[in-house]
Amino acid sequence: MSEFSKTLELINSRMPRQALSGKLYHDVDVYQDDLEQIWHKNWIFAGHTFEIEKPGQYLSLQVGKYPVIVVRDQNNIVRAFHNSCRHRGSRICSAEKGKVAKLVCPYHQWTFDLDGKLLFAANMGDSFKSDEHGLIPVHCQVVETYVYICVAESPPDFNQFRDAVTPFISPHNLRDCKVAYESNLVEKGNWKLVFENNRECYHCNGNHPELLNSFVENLSVAGVAGAVDPELQDHWNKCEAGGLPSHMVMDKDGQYRMTRIPLSKGAVSYTMNGKAAVNHRLDKSGVDNIGALLYFHYPSTWNHFLGDFAVTFRVLPLGVDSTLVTTKWLIHKDAQEGKDYDLDHLTKVWPATNDQDRRLVEESYIGVGSPAYTPGYFSEVAENGVCQFVDWYCETMKKQVKGG
Ligand code: FES
Ligand SMILES: [Fe+2]
Repeated sequence: MSEFSKTLELINSRMPRQALSGKLYHDVDVYQDDLEQIWHKNWIFAGHTFEIEKPGQYLSLQVGKYPVIVVRDQNNIVRAFHNSCRHRGSRICSAEKGKVAKLVCPYHQWTFDLDGKLLFAANMGDSFKSDEHGLIPVHCQVVETYVYICVAESPPDFNQFRDAVTPFISPHNLRDCKVAYESNLVEKGNWKLVFENNRECYHCNGNHPELLNSFVENLSVAGVAGAVDPELQDHWNKCEAGGLPSHMVMDKDGQYRMTRIPLSKGAVSYTMNGKAAVNHRLDKSGVDNIGALLYFHYPSTWNHFLGDFAVTFRVLPLGVDSTLVTTKWLIHKDAQEGKDYDLDHLTKVWPATNDQDRRLVEESYIGVGSPAYTPGYFSEVAENGVCQFVDWYCETMKKQVKGG
């Protein structure tokens, strides 16, 4: 039996609405299958275009087994390459971010142009063909400043997602944004537990006092069909009258979802007192309280857009038991610290929330590794979102076998 069929057997033995078995989180062969079937085949959120605003600015990341570099070239085109030298394979950029005139391999100084062309390779002899040794491109798409990459040779369609997400993000004017703050948190748990934890707020009351100053989970946006509550409907109508798409849109395969929710009474932002953190609004709708636009795209990102700032999250697996969560606070590029915003006020809620979530993920990871763990069942009231994620994972893995 191949390793992948072992993984599929574990997936197929799951009952409807049941949590995953311990092996699906802990087994290193399952992890390799997750990389091969999900992380190496899907579009992965890398970063924002405004993080690499000038030619030569780059960011690097690890997508499963693939180190990747995303760079803005001389013609302002955002490109992605495998971060592996065409000589003997060394990683070229080791920093997570930087700015270079050319991409120079540290090993023997092969030098590549920002469009990947090999410009210089010393002492390679007369028969050496430079034009056959350019950096290998990685598929790269940009939608509303979000740079997505795919390391597969033939990536899945991106246009459907682009068309669906653009109207939601566009009114938030991310092109005018900068990163006010970034946090990188390594969670000692399998990546699926990180996303599962994001997809329910059943745990919020017992764990997230800071977040609950302004966030209320709206159970009718979990991603399953059902009645929409009247408060949510009113919020959608109010925001859409101001030009902000808000009705929930969900991918037919469940890979992405966008919707807007109201915050708790009186709150307009994710701050300790619920008041705005930044004096610059990102949207121009004129609606006084737009709540939070939520968007996720499996397996690598979830996002919240408020009136005064946006928070974007990127998930990357580092190993079977380790996941990197990168959080960025996006504000209007003209907003000045000390004048238009106070960094502490802006960033108090999410680092606390992320750390609480980290602890939950780490405790879950230890618990599901116990031979005594038997998977329980998701609440039909409070855990439809997490069930939707687990269903997506199982169906996506099964589809790969059918060549879907
Ligand atoms: S491995 Fe890059 S120059 Fe030799
Ligand atoms: Fe949480």
